[in-house]
Formats: sequence, C-alpha cells, structure tokens
Amino acid sequence: MRLKDKVAIVTGAGAGFGGGIARRFAEEGASVIVNDINKIDGESVVADIRSNGGVADYVAADVASATDMAALIGAAVDLHGGLDIMVNNAGVPQRNMPMTEVSEEAFDLIFNVNVKSIYWAALHAIPEMRKRGGGSFVNTSSTAALSPRAGLVWYNGSKGAVNNITKGMAIELAKDKIRVNAICPVAGETQMLAEFAGGEVTPEKRDMFLSTIPLGRFSQPLDIANAALFLASDEAAMITGVCMEVDGGRCI
Ligand SMILES: NC(=O)c1ccc[n+]([C@@H]2O[C@H](COP(=O)([O-])OP(=O)(O)OC[C@H]3O[C@@H](n4cnc5c(N)ncnc54)[C@H](O)[C@@H]3O)[C@@H](O)[C@H]2O)c1
Repeated sequence: MRLKDKVAIVTGAGAGFGGGIARRFAEEGASVIVNDINKIDGESVVADIRSNGGVADYVAADVASATDMAALIGAAVDLHGGLDIMVNNAGVPQRNMPMTEVSEEAFDLIFNVNVKSIYWAALHAIPEMRKRGGGSFVNTSSTAALSPRAGLVWYNGSKGAVNNITKGMAIELAKDKIRVNAICPVAGETQMLAEFAGGEVTPEKRDMFLSTIPLGRFSQPLDIANAALFLASDEAAMITGVCMEVDGGRCI
C-alpha cells in the first residue's frame, strides 16, 4: 500500500487520466476525493472505487472558481482531517485550429482551467499541507509544453505555464517539505483526443499522431496513473520540480 493513510484530491477525475489516477491511488490505500465538474461521471468513478473496496467521495467543483476550490479542499479536511496530495489534473483542450481563430472566450477558459486552477489550489492546499508537515502536488501538464504541435498554440502555452509554475512552486515550497512535480503525457486515448485532432480522430490523424510516438501507441490512463502514483508517494521523497514525460519517447 504505497499511499496508506494519505488523503488525496484528484481534479477532473470523472474521466480519462484523472479517473485512472483516482482508481490507482485508491488501490494503493489513499482516501481519494474524486472531483469533477461532471457529477454523473465523478459519482461513477466513486462507485467503481468503492465496489473494489477503496475509499472515495465525489466533491463537485469547478477548479477555475476560487470559492469552489476552497470548498473542495475544505471537503477533504472535513472528511479526512487534512490533505497530503493534490493532483491538479482537470484541463480543457484547444480545438486544433489556427491561433488567430481561437476566441477570447476559449482562450480564457483554457488559461482559467489549466493554469489559474493551480493558483487557487496553491492558496488553499498549501496551508493544509503545512499543517501536516509536508505534502505533494502533481500537476498534469503535457508534451505540448516541451514540443508544441501546430494548431494548439494557446493550449501549448497553458501547459508551458504549468511546467514553469511547477518548478517555481517546488523551489519555494521545498523548505516546507512540500514536493511539486508535473507529468507530461503524450496524446492519450481519452475524450480530449478528438479536440486535438480538430474534431474527429480519423485513421489518417491517428497515424499522424502515432508516427510521432516512438513506442508506437497512445498513452493510457494507467500509464499516467502509475507515474502520478510514484511522484505522489514517498518513493519519490527526493524528487521535486520534475516535469516527467510519459510520452513513449516523443520528446527525445
Ligand atoms: N488526452 C490527451 O491527449 C492529453 C495529453 C496531454 C495532457 N493531457 C492533460 O491531461 C489532463 C486530463 O485530460 P484527459 O485527456 O483525461 O481529458 P478528459 O476530457 O478525458 O478528462 C478531463 C476531465 O476534467 C473535467 N473538467 C473539465 N473542466 C473542469 C473544471 N473546470 N473543473 C473540474 N473538472 C473539470 C472534465 O469533466 C473531465 O471529466 C488535462 O489536464 C489535459 O490537458 C491530456
């Protein structure tokens, strides 16, 4: 049990990578707060975890909202007495299109959900982790931060910010024994992929993505969950400020 007695929040855990992370953390003994803006999806992940003997609760929150984030972290404290692990995973894509055609509304959503959410999480999670004498943040970034694809300029930029913020947080919080790391997944087989493909993952687009991934497959929620588990666990006690590619070699 690699996360025994740990309390973890996973945002955007109703689907995709976040669902995989929440399930994997629960298997390893964490008490998991499953957050998602989508109640049906979040509750279904909780039911799945509980049916396998794990501990999980759904807490609704829009991670881009200050009050929702405060309530989400407050829920972890109310339910389990504190917070050890904060996985900032919720994110929104940019539909693949020329940068000049992205609306201001779409730009603001990308930065509010992908970047500003980490600010809100920091404000409310850091005091709780300090009370515990330490903690761990895992931020879901992207290979987009390291090797940007055309047609995704503003999304790429949001993930570049995630990587830089991860390192900045890591250096500032090291004295508090709070570690901060990021995961940079390559294109994953989740509902988000169609947006990166511009609307539909045609066989041609699938081949285009796969041709850029040396290991020859898309990432899966379990790939990301295993990396998050390692970074969140005490096995990574000496690791902070890392932006770990889980990308089948794409960024080499
Ligand atoms: N799928 C990919 O190809 C890929 C690649 C690299 C990085 N990522 C990143 O991985 C993370 C997870 O993506 P995914 O592929 O699992 O996507 P997904 O769409 O399958 O899941 C994202 C979840 O986040 C939730 N969500 C969206 N906005 C939210 C908000 N404001 N508050 C709370 N929940 C919200 C959604 O309801 C959804 O359940 C994102 O940060 C994404 O940018 C994805």
